[in-house]
Amino acid sequence: MTQPKILIAREVFPEVLALLERHFEVDYHASDALLAPEQLTARLADKDGVLTMPTERIDAALLAACPRLRAVCNCAVGYNNIDLDACTRAGVMVTNTPGVLDDTTADFAWGLMLASARRIVAADQWLRARQWDGWKYQGWLGQDLHHATLGILGMGRIGQAVARRAAGFEMRVIYHNRSHLPAEHEAQCRAKWVDKLTLLRESDFLVLMLPYSPATHHAIGAAELAQMKPTAYLINIARGGVVDDAALIEALQQRRIAGAGLDVFENEPALDPRFFALDNVVLTPHIGSASAATRLKMAMLAADNLIAALTGGTPPNLLNPTVKN
Ligand code: GLV
Repeated sequence: MTQPKILIAREVFPEVLALLERHFEVDYHASDALLAPEQLTARLADKDGVLTMPTERIDAALLAACPRLRAVCNCAVGYNNIDLDACTRAGVMVTNTPGVLDDTTADFAWGLMLASARRIVAADQWLRARQWDGWKYQGWLGQDLHHATLGILGMGRIGQAVARRAAGFEMRVIYHNRSHLPAEHEAQCRAKWVDKLTLLRESDFLVLMLPYSPATHHAIGAAELAQMKPTAYLINIARGGVVDDAALIEALQQRRIAGAGLDVFENEPALDPRFFALDNVVLTPHIGSASAATRLKMAMLAADNLIAALTGGTPPNLLNPTVKN
C-alpha cells in the first residue's frame, strides 16, 4: 500500500522526522528559511498532509491548488496563520498543540516582567558597553513585582499558568476574559474577574494572552493604553496584532506607561524600527514556547495529530471536528 505523502514545512528535531518517516512518504524542507507562498503551494500540490509552524500561511487560494490535502497540523497553539473556515469548507482537518507549552510560555511571561521592571536587559547592555564605574545607591532603580497587581487579559490555560506563578510574588491577581473561570480555577489562580476597564486601570503588570482574531485585533490600542497607570508594564506573549504597535510606541516614547516586554509584534519579523530606540522595552523574537523540551513536545504532538488524521483516526487536537475521516 502506498503511504500518504506529507510535507514538513520547516526544520524539526530528528525524533520528529524519524516518527513521521515511519508513517509517511516525507518531503522535508530541512531549513529554517520560510518557503515563499508559491513554493509552499507547489510543494503541497501532491500532498495529503502538512506539518506547519505559525509562520506558514494556509488560505483558500492554497487549498484550491492542493486538492489532495486532508490535514494541516500546526506546531503551535495559536492557529491564526490558518484559515480554519476555508479548511473546513475544503474538508481539511486542522490541529494545533495545546497544553504542552503552557508552563514554558508562562515562565517566559515572568522573565519578561522581571526583565522589564528590573531593567535587566538594559543594565546588561550598559555593562557590556563598559559604562560601569562603580556601585551606585540610585543606580538602575526599577520597580517591584512583589505585592503588585498582576492583570491578565485572556485567561485560558497559559493565562492561568501565569496567574498560578504569582503566588510566589505575593501579588494580587485580576483577570478579564469573555467568561468567568469556574470557581475552583479562580481559587487555584487566586484570581478575580474584573471588567476590562478595571483591569486596565488597576494592573501594575498587564499580561496579554489572547488568541489573535479579527475580534481581538488591537485589543490594546491608544484608548486602552491611556487607561493604564503611568507606572504599569505591558507584557505581550500572545500574538502581534493584539496590540496596536504604533500606539504602544507613542505611549512608551511619552512614558505614558513605564515599559513593556514584548515577544510578538505586528508584521513579524519586520517590527517597527522605532522600537529599537526605546530604552523602556524588552524585545524578544517570538520565543515564548522556545525551550528545547517544549519545542520537541509540540512537534511530536503535531506529528501525532498528522498520523491520526491520515491513518483513519481522530486527531487528539482537531479544531474542526465537523471534518471527519
Ligand atoms: C506560538 O506562538 C504558539 O502559538 O504556540
